[in-house]
Amino acid sequence: MNILIENGKVVNSDKSEFADVFISDGKILKVGKFSETEVPVPDRKINAKDMLVFPGGIDPHVHFKLPAGNGFTADDFVTGGKAALFGGTTTVIDFVTPSRNQSYLEALEQRFKDSDNCPVDFSFHMSPTWWGKDSAKEIKECLNEGISSFKIYMAYLSSIGIVDSDIEKVMSQIADYGGLLTAHCEVDERIEQLRRKFISEGKVSPEYHPLSRPPQVEEDAVRNLIRIAGGKNCPVYIVHVSSGGSVEIINQDRKRGQIVLGETCPQYFLLDDSAYSGNFNKASAFVMSPPLRPKLHQERIWDGIKNNLLQTVATDHCSFTLAQKRLGINDFTKIPNGAAGVENRMQLLYTYGVNSGKITLNEFVALTSRNAALIFGLGSSKGRIEQGFDADIVVWNPKPESVISANTHHHNSDITTWEDFKIIGAPVYTIRRGELMIENNKINPAISTGKFMKRDLPALSNWS
Ligand code: URP
Ligand code: ZN
Repeated sequence: MNILIENGKVVNSDKSEFADVFISDGKILKVGKFSETEVPVPDRKINAKDMLVFPGGIDPHVHFKLPAGNGFTADDFVTGGKAALFGGTTTVIDFVTPSRNQSYLEALEQRFKDSDNCPVDFSFHMSPTWWGKDSAKEIKECLNEGISSFKIYMAYLSSIGIVDSDIEKVMSQIADYGGLLTAHCEVDERIEQLRRKFISEGKVSPEYHPLSRPPQVEEDAVRNLIRIAGGKNCPVYIVHVSSGGSVEIINQDRKRGQIVLGETCPQYFLLDDSAYSGNFNKASAFVMSPPLRPKLHQERIWDGIKNNLLQTVATDHCSFTLAQKRLGINDFTKIPNGAAGVENRMQLLYTYGVNSGKITLNEFVALTSRNAALIFGLGSSKGRIEQGFDADIVVWNPKPESVISANTHHHNSDITTWEDFKIIGAPVYTIRRGELMIENNKINPAISTGKFMKRDLPALSNWS
């Protein structure tokens, strides 16, 4: 299909220009001003006057069909992928989480089955959840398969987390091959101690969730991770940075010459820990790890975003229904951790970042797609509106005002942490590799499935 997008303002991470975009065969054929004779006949013309034309969003941190809470998360790859498209995101990176002693590659095969019919393009970070005699070889094979980033958990030691000595082994391999290690930074022992203490004292409500995972628990893990990475010369990317202190630690170590990248999520600069008090049904929706922080952290996360200390805004999308959350009605440690967001990410950052004057349009593109593309080895095909790139494009109306609600969102959940949040701006057309997926808030019934993206090694020269 050939599509001509006319008269819009095309925004890339480094420049904006009034230009037309011609899409052919899934790729961007031309950007600029060109005559009809220079391009094939379009099957479809989109008038983007007064609209912004962004690269399709890349959310590098989602959990679809994750086993948890007596079953799976509420969104699978189909419902989560559709919700992503409604919000302007055309590519996601999820995870492979092998169980202990399971081959990484066997777990990858299962994940390919889970992601059948996913409507957005996708990839996985591989999680080395244990270390065995074949692990080094399997890491190399992952890289050969186009999986160039890995994720370790410093929390959850009793299930998927790994200890420092194994983190060192993982880092050695990744550093040798030029991959990237991403990390969930929280000190597990301290969390477990605090949880045990609160439960034994009968402190079982959601307000004890953030108190059992205070900011220092994250900051100490960040410091420790960066120390180990320094010894192994391994680039690291810290997922869901929630604490202002972590941003400062990243800054100090970056100045010392280490490659330390950071991701945050809208919940850490727009929500705060007051959400945990009161009624269980409301408060439990906000139980996620790391937890929401006291309000004073929000400005420090924004500073990290503005000063390029945090490179990406992801979501950590991990949705549950209220019934699932109620598993922890008598014990906050049993509330499944996580919340939905893949549909809301771009609108939230546009409203509270661009519209409020905190970030520019170009920074918005860097944070929602281009930086993730470079960092995760998709830099030659995604996150940019330029000839030869994948035609992942969002035509964005900057004007409409609306309110987020679980009654109208496309996440497969009856709750949202963003209930009543005002948003300004909305995707009018979401195009994934040249295919019109969303038009005026309606999904095309005939959409094809997304593609597994074999990724290159990370391109980190902007941050080294
Ligand atoms: O609470 C969260 N974030 N759940 C998803 C799993 C994780 O820790 O990233
Ligand atoms: Zn996560």
